[in-house]
Amino acid sequence: MMRSRLGNSQRMEGTTRFYARYYGGLLGRSGLSIAKGVALPFVRAEAVRSGAHAMAYPISTYAPWQADESFQRVYGLVRRHTLVDVWRLYELWSLLGEVAEIPGSVLEVGVWRGGSGTLLAIRAAELGITDIVFLCDTWEGVVKTGPLDIYYHDGKHDDTSRGTVEALVTSLGLENVELLQGIFPDQSAERISDRTFRFVHVDVDVYQSASDVLEWAWPRLSAGGVVVFDDYGFPACPGVTQFVDEQRGKPDRLVLHNLNGHGIVVKR
Ligand SMILES: C[S@@+](CC[C@H](N)C(=O)[O-])C[C@H]1O[C@@H](n2cnc3c(N)ncnc32)[C@H](O)[C@@H]1O
Repeated sequence: MMRSRLGNSQRMEGTTRFYARYYGGLLGRSGLSIAKGVALPFVRAEAVRSGAHAMAYPISTYAPWQADESFQRVYGLVRRHTLVDVWRLYELWSLLGEVAEIPGSVLEVGVWRGGSGTLLAIRAAELGITDIVFLCDTWEGVVKTGPLDIYYHDGKHDDTSRGTVEALVTSLGLENVELLQGIFPDQSAERISDRTFRFVHVDVDVYQSASDVLEWAWPRLSAGGVVVFDDYGFPACPGVTQFVDEQRGKPDRLVLHNLNGHGIVVKR
């Protein structure tokens, strides 16, 4: 009804105001960076046009991260060192709590400047988890981009270094972190090949890396353990979305789609 009474220019103005508020909010919440993929309106428009994507606004408004003082304190410490927004960071935070009683270390592949990885390490220490949190990155950017990863190129996100993350780990006083440099798993996994894991965060942006990390980690994941894939459903990451969808229907895993950009795989 409303639509038909508005002229084209009023509709455009309304739309512009909506997007200004939307991106303003995103900027505020995601700290250092605009959320990956969503920051590229033309990529998103293309994805929506394809019919496989749509703008989704959950009716739910429950926001437990706001009142969680411990999380807020840590979020304040890491938000300038991460590309991951507050919603996904809170999910990492709360899911690690869910697997506190499951045996195994914590693994993150795709660390960049260390924000999400150090948040996991602080949370692990808070939960009394004594196993090491392994943070793995090339620190030379994304690798193994393939035909599905049309918005990526090798070397993307190379604006960081191992030293940057070491400095963050030191400044936070973390003693439960070990950094592994190189392409994971090919170059850096051998040192930890006899470990088991309770929680794995895969934030590698592209199909082949996501696949190689899961193939390596799955046999080492404890029953009840969780793998969280960042980038799931992001318009700029069709490779990761496809890879997570390929996990559906396998008898040993439960696959969850979270609208915040996480694909979550739980080992039965
Ligand atoms: C989007 S960033 C990670 C963001 C990070 N989790 C944060 O808190 O901001 C992706 C990172 O994955 C790394 N990466 C991608 N594929 C990799 C692989 N197979 N092995 C190691 N690092 C990889 C890149 O170097 C890059 O730093």
